[in-house]
Amino acid sequence: MNKNVLSGGLAIIALVIGIMNYISIAELNTSIENERSETVQSSMEEGEEEEHYELAKAMTYMQRYSHKLYLAGSNENWELSEFYAHEIEETIEEIEKAKVVDEGYDISKLVGTMTNPSFEKVEQSIHDQDAKAFADSYKLLVQSCNACHQTTEHQFIKIEVPKNGNAFNQDFSK
Ligand code: HEC
Repeated sequence: MNKNVLSGGLAIIALVIGIMNYISIAELNTSIENERSETVQSSMEEGEEEEHYELAKAMTYMQRYSHKLYLAGSNENWELSEFYAHEIEETIEEIEKAKVVDEGYDISKLVGTMTNPSFEKVEQSIHDQDAKAFADSYKLLVQSCNACHQTTEHQFIKIEVPKNGNAFNQDFSK
């Protein structure tokens, strides 16, 4: 075997190995690209979901209106209480329409089911202008907020009956 044939043979082997590598790298690239585009696609979908509805913002309204509702009701300002109760009702309806699923929990389905029983009692107490019934039903409303936070693994968000010295109707302790 002369040198030329040998180096020719080696060149062919190198070429074959080169082609094989090229093919497998190309395959690898294709599969990485596919995976990435799937991830991008799904993160885009998730992004869209978050973008189309911000549950935390709606919850901020729930907190704000429920706090003001308490302050109005405990002052027996029934006209103002009715206003805030109505705002809460609208926020609940908005969440229901938004079809929000948060970490696998169907919030839109849960929100009415969990708040309606206590919320209806609050509305009734406002209608009856009954301060005692208002205070009792408000506690139930707060419990329904917390029940959902617990169910949806947000147990660290603890709503409470407003207290003097706390700017929020929320328990910030550990
Ligand atoms: C159907 C379930 C559900 C009910 C009922 C519910 N929440 Fe929430 N709440 C959530 C979830 C889920 C989050 C977390 C949202 C997120 O991850 O962005 C949250 C977050 C919050 C936050 C944190 C946002 C912030 O601004 O600090 C507050 C406050 C809050 N809720 C208040 C309330 C109040 C007040 C009520 C009752 C009047 C209530 N929630 C009823 C599910 C619920």
